[in-house]
Amino acid sequence: MDKIACSVNSLYERYPYPSLPILNEHDLVSKLHANVMSKILATAGLESSSSYNKDILDAGCGTGEKSCYFAYYGAKVTSLDLSCSSLAKGKKLAEKFDLEVDFKRCDILDFKTEKMFDHIFCLGVLHHTNDPYGRFRRLAALCKPGGTITIGLYNLYGRFLHRAKRMWIKLNAGEDIDRRMSFIENSIYGRKFKNIHEQVYAADKYANPHESYHSVIEVVDWFNKNGISYIGSYPRTDTGIFRSFFTQLKWLKNRNGFFIISGRKN
Ligand SMILES: C[S@@+](CC[C@H](N)C(=O)[O-])C[C@H]1O[C@@H](n2cnc3c(N)ncnc32)[C@H](O)[C@@H]1O
Repeated sequence: MDKIACSVNSLYERYPYPSLPILNEHDLVSKLHANVMSKILATAGLESSSSYNKDILDAGCGTGEKSCYFAYYGAKVTSLDLSCSSLAKGKKLAEKFDLEVDFKRCDILDFKTEKMFDHIFCLGVLHHTNDPYGRFRRLAALCKPGGTITIGLYNLYGRFLHRAKRMWIKLNAGEDIDRRMSFIENSIYGRKFKNIHEQVYAADKYANPHESYHSVIEVVDWFNKNGISYIGSYPRTDTGIFRSFFTQLKWLKNRNGFFIISGRKN
C-alpha cells in the first residue's frame, strides 16, 4: 500500500463508510433508491431494473449498500475495497438479505481479472488516492464496449469553502484522527454525534487525511483519452469550458461539492 492509501485506510478501518442504517428491504431498496441511487443511475441513463443479469463493478464499495442494491436487482456484482472493516460490514449486509456479492480486498490499481463489466461505479473513491487518473484508466479498461462508467468526485470549485473548513480543522487539531474527530464534534457539530452514521459521515467529510479536487473539464478529458463519451452528471452540467465553469461555481452552494459523472465506452 502506498503512503496515502495507508493513511486513508486507517480512517476507513476505524470509520467504515457509509454504514447506513439498513434494517429491512424497504431501507435497502426504496429508501436507498430515493436518497441516492435514482440520482446516480440517472447520470448513466440507467434504471434499477437495468442491473438485471449485468456484470457490475463497485470499485471502493465501502460498506457495500450500493453493491447489495445492485445484487437485489439481479446483477452479478464484484466489489472492491481496501478497508477490511468496511468489507466485513458489506458481507454481513449481503448475508442479511441473502444476496450474492463478490467482495474482494484490493486496491483498484492492483485489481486483476479476465472479466469485463457492463457497468462500473466508483463513487467517492478516486479523490482519496495518490493517482486518481491512473485508477480511472484501470477502471476504463475493465468496461465493456457499450458499457457505462460512473464516478463521483470532489469538485475543484464547488468544494472551495469546505476546503477552508478542513484547513481550519487541521490548524487546530493537526493530523491525528482522534484529535480531529473530537475537535469536529466539539467545534463543528457543537454536540455529541447522534449515531454511528453521523460519526462516520463526519469522519469522511472532515477528518479524511487526503482528498483531491477535480473539474468537469478534467474528467471529460479523462473520458476522451479512454474512448468514453459523456452521458450525464449530477448535479447537471454542460461540458463546455465556460458553461461548466459557471455551473461549478454554483455548486459552491451544495453541501459538499461532490459531483457524479457518467460516460459510455465506445
Ligand atoms: C467515501 S467511501 C465511498 C464508499 C462507497 N463507494 C459509497 O459511495 O458509499 C471511500 C471508500 O474508498 C475506499 N478506497 C480508498 N482508496 C481505495 C483504493 N485505492 N482502492 C480501493 N478502495 C479504496 C475506502 O476504503 C472507502 O471505503
